Amino acid sequence: MSDQQPLPPTPAPALDLKNIQGDILSGLPKKTETFYFFEITDVTGFRTNLRDFVPVIKTVAQTLKDREAIDKHKKESGHGGHKPPTIPLVGVNIAFSHLGFAKLGIDDTKLVDTAFLSGQRQDAQTLGDKGTLDGDKFVPDWDAPFKQDIHGVFVVAGDSHVTVDRKVQLIEQRFKVGTPTASISKIVSIVGDVRPGDQDGHEHFGYLDGVSNPAIIGFDKNPPPGPAPVRPGVLLLGQDGDEDKDGRDPWMADGSFLVFRQLFQNVPEFDEFVNTNRLQLPGLSAKEGADLFGARLVGRWKSGAPIDLTPFFDDPELADDPLRNNNFHFTAERDFQKLCPFAAHIRKTLPRADLEDLGFSIENRRIARRGIQFGPELTRAEKQQKKTLLGRGLLFVSYQSSIVNGFQFIQQSWANNANFPFGEQTPETPGLDPIIGQSGDAPRGLMSGVNPNTPATTVDLKDVWVIPRGGEYFFSPSIKALRETIAL
Ligand code: HEM
Repeated sequence: MSDQQPLPPTPAPALDLKNIQGDILSGLPKKTETFYFFEITDVTGFRTNLRDFVPVIKTVAQTLKDREAIDKHKKESGHGGHKPPTIPLVGVNIAFSHLGFAKLGIDDTKLVDTAFLSGQRQDAQTLGDKGTLDGDKFVPDWDAPFKQDIHGVFVVAGDSHVTVDRKVQLIEQRFKVGTPTASISKIVSIVGDVRPGDQDGHEHFGYLDGVSNPAIIGFDKNPPPGPAPVRPGVLLLGQDGDEDKDGRDPWMADGSFLVFRQLFQNVPEFDEFVNTNRLQLPGLSAKEGADLFGARLVGRWKSGAPIDLTPFFDDPELADDPLRNNNFHFTAERDFQKLCPFAAHIRKTLPRADLEDLGFSIENRRIARRGIQFGPELTRAEKQQKKTLLGRGLLFVSYQSSIVNGFQFIQQSWANNANFPFGEQTPETPGLDPIIGQSGDAPRGLMSGVNPNTPATTVDLKDVWVIPRGGEYFFSPSIKALRETIAL
């Protein structure tokens, strides 16, 4: 089983935090974030503009300083006074698609990753997205901007729209957007916002997100108990733990693959499904029965508390305690999904001891998630009509040293696979991940384990509540690569 392993006796070689883009290891701090997708229109112009722009890119070292400043500000404003709730801080990162490298004339074959090299549009059918066939070509049901060739993305994260918009303007100035000497043109920019009030940190279905991310050996100093920390090469190319470490070109070191997906969420419809299927157990009110059913779809309560540790009632104190809220392995139960359904979103996407007890490592499946919500809060009309009228959802972002091992594998082989997790301990077919599992146009089938007392009870996942409408695979290079290989 995967009890937290001690750090290695000899310290891992220090990472060069000034060489790694900030979002990868520490997450750019954000209340709002703009993803600015672009096409390179003038290669030489772009490489020249980029040379001057590299100093603007925020590194991990700078991001850690920003986080310290935010913590200090929070402490000070906690002692009364009239300080504003946030301090003006903004960070910019940049990443390129395979088509972007091709346009720049940069040979990226040693990035190796077949998902990256084919691009996400080509991969959409593998991921289970809905779409149509144009001859033998699959065309996903995506929004128009993502059907174009995207060369790169600027990720701009900050405390407010004012600071972020100012940075976006700076990008447009530096790359001369809209002028005769422009080196890029904007394809689309998409804005994400943390949800307001007590929903800060919660995704649109209402569940706290961002609780469990991999701790990195040599970077996270005191990782809380939970899944074993991973080697830095699980996220960073060229580092220990990168499966293709020895075959990379030197410029690829310290970069990471960035997966972007725009996932729309049908919230009123999801709420209605949860309410209709609420569990009717002795001692539970109707609301508690609905909350329990919802928690069994996700594997955590809305507070973030894991149902593996608190299976019948939410426990906000447990949720708030970093020493406890990720310290479970799905082992307490060889109980056949009494505590947590096999198909629950967090069990599908990180099966912990379900695999480790069978002798499989989960290290190379770990991804660092850095998403943000987009779209407005539910309106009264939507609540009344129980129908989505406005677009909202998750701008999903993950970093990993292999998309094939990380995001693609999780989506295709785990979330979309009704028979996973497998083995003797799963007498009932788990079914698809009810949150993100996809099967193209085919029905999603049944999910078992919804009722803790009778795990064979199933529910029909005939509706979908998470709908991908676009995305791309990118590579977020090191500062050195930006300066010496990509810029002129
Ligand atoms: C709109 C779509 C999605 C929603 C609403 C959603 C929601 C959540 C929530 C509430 C959690 C629990 C909090 C946490 O552990 O951080 C979670 C965890 C997680 N999700 Fe998602 N998620 C979505 C999409 C995805 C996708 C597309 C993937 C990857 C293919 C994914 C992978 C994960 C992973 C790896 C975890 C952490 C599991 C763990 O370490 O225990 N999620 N998600």
